[in-house]
Amino acid sequence: MNAVRGWTPITKADNIPLREGRAVLVGDAEIAIFHLEGRYLTIENKCPHKGGPLCDGIVSGTKVVCPLHGQRFDLETGMPVLASQPGCVAIFPTRVDDGVVFVDLGGACKAGEEAAA
Ligand code: FES
Repeated sequence: MNAVRGWTPITKADNIPLREGRAVLVGDAEIAIFHLEGRYLTIENKCPHKGGPLCDGIVSGTKVVCPLHGQRFDLETGMPVLASQPGCVAIFPTRVDDGVVFVDLGGACKAGEEAAA
């Protein structure tokens, strides 16, 4: 999925407003980083339904609503909120160090799959 491995500095944490997401292209991976009350969570920025940009979705709690057709995904697990929805999105380990958001793109995890080696 991507050519970048290990913890990668992405942006200053201040650049991601509370309860919003921002899209970032790192290598060939487009990710969406969300800011939730001091926590930062990262998922792939492509809805499994028809590719909607999840970074633009409305955030409610730990869920994001796809802006195209309204499917909801849990930002912590990548799982769809409704079991009847097809597919899930990859999640990426994320941390903040000295005010900078780092994402481990090599640590991508998708429900039902093993973490990338
Ligand atoms: S593209 Fe996301 S719900 Fe359709």
